[in-house]
Amino acid sequence: MDLFSEVSQSAGKHSPLEERIRQLPNPVSSVFLGKDGKIRPAAFKETGMSLICKRPEVFAKTISQSRSIVLEAVAADESVRVKGKRVAVLFSGGPAAGGHNVLAGLLAALGDDNTLVGIKMGPKGLIKGDCFEIHKDDIKSIINTGGFDFLGTDRTKIKSPEQFEKVRQTVVKNRLDGLVIVGGDDSNTNAAFIAEYLESEGIDCSVIGIPKTIDGDLAAGKYLPISFGFDTATKIFSELVGNLCQDAASAVKYYHFVKLMGRTASKITLEVALQTKPAITLISEEIAEKNMSLDNIVDYIVRIITLRRMKGLNHGVILVPEGLVEFIPEMRRLIAELNKALAEYERHISDLPTIEHKREFLLSHLTVESAKLLASLPSDLQEMLILDRDDHGNVKVSQIETEKLLIEKIIYRISEMQRHTDRFFGAGEGKIEATPEQVEDFKKVTLSTQSHFFGYEGRSSKPTKFDAAFTFQLGLTAASLVLAGKSGYMAAITDFDRGGRVLGLPLTGLITAEMRKGKEEFVIEKSLVELESPSFRVFAQNRDKWAEEDLFSSPGAIQYWGPISKQIPIIVALDQDYPDFDNFDLGEEKQTVIE
Ligand code: FBP
Repeated sequence: MDLFSEVSQSAGKHSPLEERIRQLPNPVSSVFLGKDGKIRPAAFKETGMSLICKRPEVFAKTISQSRSIVLEAVAADESVRVKGKRVAVLFSGGPAAGGHNVLAGLLAALGDDNTLVGIKMGPKGLIKGDCFEIHKDDIKSIINTGGFDFLGTDRTKIKSPEQFEKVRQTVVKNRLDGLVIVGGDDSNTNAAFIAEYLESEGIDCSVIGIPKTIDGDLAAGKYLPISFGFDTATKIFSELVGNLCQDAASAVKYYHFVKLMGRTASKITLEVALQTKPAITLISEEIAEKNMSLDNIVDYIVRIITLRRMKGLNHGVILVPEGLVEFIPEMRRLIAELNKALAEYERHISDLPTIEHKREFLLSHLTVESAKLLASLPSDLQEMLILDRDDHGNVKVSQIETEKLLIEKIIYRISEMQRHTDRFFGAGEGKIEATPEQVEDFKKVTLSTQSHFFGYEGRSSKPTKFDAAFTFQLGLTAASLVLAGKSGYMAAITDFDRGGRVLGLPLTGLITAEMRKGKEEFVIEKSLVELESPSFRVFAQNRDKWAEEDLFSSPGAIQYWGPISKQIPIIVALDQDYPDFDNFDLGEEKQTVIE
């Protein structure tokens, strides 16, 4: 083939890498293998573990079935073959690498005797009943590749009685025996409510959730070490941050402020910090714990920048978690007050003609401190806080340019220090000890900054070997749960270091009540960075060294072959007490392209 045709033929997801990756085998846990070594659904037994629901009255029907007991997969009796089941699947929320392998796993476990139905455009498609059958040929072209584009996704929250009734109609019309919801905390909460609703309507349809989100906030200790997509996203961000560290040290003139996705949790930021060891990393959960104000954060960063300058380093990388603003105490109070006022005066506010009118109205309903703070913020940030919530009531933190807010404040603080050196340098609490020459040198500093936001580029990549295997097996688990007639469970896999343990977690045991838009709502509790966890402790013990001199590491691109292709996130290995993070074991490698 000449070069001209070769280039043309790689259109439509046929790059040489994609073609090779589609052929890669995936490890499969022994519970999904028959005596002939072929993939088949597993059966489930009860374990001695249970996840107790905090509001059993809300999920009475589901709990009467599950008794809150955690299920564990075992190899099934090969003479039993469930046939004729129709199982639908949808993606919900932001994309995460590996979604297409969930579909591959579902179809592999359902086999030729059952049908996999795709629902287009997430929960919205479920309400509309937008369904189609998925076949082996579809899977051949999407296995091991990234994105959610095969089905599409959206963020509709199913909450009104009319929406639940529409879901019921879709289930009945399409004769669905199972519904698999691939999503984050909000979507899995949706799954728990749909399971309860269908059960109470006498509809025999198993509803199963699959833990997806790059944020890593959908996790439950030993029951669920991590959601899918986190490993791939953090590897991509680590490559980019490692490159920036290298560039900063080479060009020796920039501080790169990098906001990293992750919504509320700083887990992505912590993982990237452990992978790359940059000069400064902020962890929101620690900032809240230490009650650090925006000024305190600026002080902390400026101090490190100054000390580095005194050592001749005028460059570096600073990691900022996406959800930081929600953890700064005064911002947190402001957001809570805004949420309350927005909920109380929803109608009135939406009738006000301009953003300026809305702002004025809200300012008059805030405490003096919060009103002052809101008025002091850049106007686009004010607008974001006043107006924008997603369907689940979350502030859209991905749109808040925290990194730019910090840059603005830090540049101002440095110029203040240059103008009033006596207030900031010398002996005394909070002052920086410096020689007169160092102070003179500091006066000449210009802080050159670059801002970055890494998020969307990490969500739809081809999955890492780990995410590819994890998602394929989550699909096998969900299909097996449906075929076993179980409803209201989340598919989970643990023990990544020893062949994988396959579990069904009662969704009701993960749900708690939270205040959203001023109202109590049921949600799956977000898993945040714990300051007592081994992963945070390792970071905290080392960060001063990384601040004092350039000790960054540059982990490079995701590997699909070779010695580092079997890595898992460092924070998972540390917090689950695995011996290393270099070698996951999720079973025997099998060719998972279905013929
Ligand atoms: P999910 O929780 O739905 O997986 O989404 C995660 C996320 O990528 C966050 O990190 C980010 O804040 C948000 O989605 C951005 O949402 P959107 O795609 O609507 O811009």
